[in-house]
Amino acid sequence: MLSEILKEETRENHQQLEKMLIGKLKAVSGVKDYADLLKYFYGYFGGLEDQINQAIDPDLLPDNADRRKTQSIAEDIKALGETVPAKANSDTLPRIKNHLEALGALYVIEGSTLGGKIISKMMEQQLALNGAGLSFFTGYGDRTGQMWETFKQVLDQQAANPEQEAVVIAAANETFLKFGEWFARNKTVKQN
Ligand code: HEM
Repeated sequence: MLSEILKEETRENHQQLEKMLIGKLKAVSGVKDYADLLKYFYGYFGGLEDQINQAIDPDLLPDNADRRKTQSIAEDIKALGETVPAKANSDTLPRIKNHLEALGALYVIEGSTLGGKIISKMMEQQLALNGAGLSFFTGYGDRTGQMWETFKQVLDQQAANPEQEAVVIAAANETFLKFGEWFARNKTVKQN
């Protein structure tokens, strides 16, 4: 199944990104630090989402409109009293030119709802947010597991052969790697 292969083939890049992010999350000591982190998610996921929307075939992912949108990051940033930044441009984003590449990038975005649960709990414990600014990392709330299962079912129906699977996997890995690079350029969010 493509979803299982993807998990295996992207495991290392996920672990690296997770490790780096945990360091940054632990270093968050105030709302401003957290808002800075959200800004980096907004820039990258926002640019990526625009590219995905241009390349995805909406008939093949019928619930796409219900899926979490970058707009919720913008709302979180504003709820914390900060300004929404510009989105990343194509120089810093992965190449998303067709439906299969869009699926690979979406795998990364959708999968991040699973880690998002952990992130929102950490931020709730570290900061006195009173629920503000947490909508993005709360993902689909109680529906997160179900939304992930549905996404994987769609994914598993769509790559017709190993060559097509390789396109999805390469796009997912590039999406992880370029997100790491995007953060590496970031000098405003402190790290331990
Ligand atoms: C502090 C940061 C993060 C933590 C602690 C974390 C943790 C996790 C955990 C525990 C899972 C497995 C959940 C399960 O199987 O039920 C998971 C899955 C996943 N995460 Fe993360 N994550 C983090 C950040 C991210 C980010 C930023 C992305 C994307 C940019 C991401 C992408 C994914 C993907 C694609 C999966 C699905 C793996 C699969 O195919 O099963 N994660 N994450």
